[in-house]
Amino acid sequence: MSTLTALATSSLDVIVGHQQPSGAYPASPTFSAYRGFCWFRDGSFIADGASAAGAVGSADSFFDWCAGTLAQQAGTVAAVVAGARDGHPVPDDQMLPARFRFDGAIADDDWWDFQLDGYGTWLWAVVEHARRHGRDLGRWAGAIELSVDYLVASWRRPCFDWWEEHSEQVHVSTLGCIGAGLEAVLTAGVLDGDRARRAQQAAAQIRALVAERGTIDGHLTKWFGRTDPDASLCALVGPMRWLDPADPVAVGTVRAVRTSLAVDGGVHRFGDDVFYGGGQWPLLSCLLGQGLLATGDAPGARAALDWAASTATADGLLPEQVADHLLAPAHRAEWVERWGEVATPLLWSHGQYLRLWHDLGQP
Ligand code: BGC
Repeated sequence: MSTLTALATSSLDVIVGHQQPSGAYPASPTFSAYRGFCWFRDGSFIADGASAAGAVGSADSFFDWCAGTLAQQAGTVAAVVAGARDGHPVPDDQMLPARFRFDGAIADDDWWDFQLDGYGTWLWAVVEHARRHGRDLGRWAGAIELSVDYLVASWRRPCFDWWEEHSEQVHVSTLGCIGAGLEAVLTAGVLDGDRARRAQQAAAQIRALVAERGTIDGHLTKWFGRTDPDASLCALVGPMRWLDPADPVAVGTVRAVRTSLAVDGGVHRFGDDVFYGGGQWPLLSCLLGQGLLATGDAPGARAALDWAASTATADGLLPEQVADHLLAPAHRAEWVERWGEVATPLLWSHGQYLRLWHDLGQP
């Protein structure tokens, strides 16, 4: 068995082994700040990797968890929709959170919670999974409708990004994830007439706004008004295909991430990252790899997979980030002191590895 296949096997073991009976995936079972929580964003990419690698039941059960969790939030979604309709949007702290406990409960603690991307990402991931394995989306229809209603009412709002930062900004990768989710469910044909019309309108407006305000010098940018990219944008080209890989903006975005954020194969989140000193993230190398693969650079994608694999521990565990090339070394100690050593394993790293490994033909 090749080293890469061995890591795929241990990745599946980590993901399936830590999945909860409820279907929730812990972001990291051992890391102080993440223990006990499942994020819609992380979980959706983990389920996508597991689904691509053949763990169909694991992905099914994660999407069941999403559906059950959203059903518990039907009252909140109704309030958000009514507030938006009446011109009195609910405050950020009453929007849906980014992470939930394994039983779908909302934690009573402080977190950077108002993030919209995960509600789009799960829509995209569940449609991908259903298409890949011939699943009937009817099983998740109620939760899909709740998510669509929530996103259609809220997508214009500034919120925290993938990295749980800058809630005052409108983040381009967040908009792309919402757009990808809405377009996925529209293409799958699971929405009724009026809801489909509203989703269609929002999806088109998102595309127009990103073209107008989120694209500079031929590539997508981190947020409206900023000129540099964020590595999360590769997801919109690679796995999500929200940008057609033949679109020059897709090519330009992958190139911008590679030239400004990749160093020796490892990928940084964004240029002024200070979290744990601003290291390099294996999950982002895998997303860049998928962007490269989609835009025609298979050797580049393979190199990205190799780099991600090189960060695994001897036990086959992938970390959240490595400190090979820190952007802000002076900031590392404060995070180690606050939360302990870097999260390892991070299930999302394993999910993203699995998806690229699969797309490269399981080398
Ligand atoms: C990252 C998020 C992630 C969370 C759980 C945070 O440090 O910024 O993207 O969802 O950890 O893995």
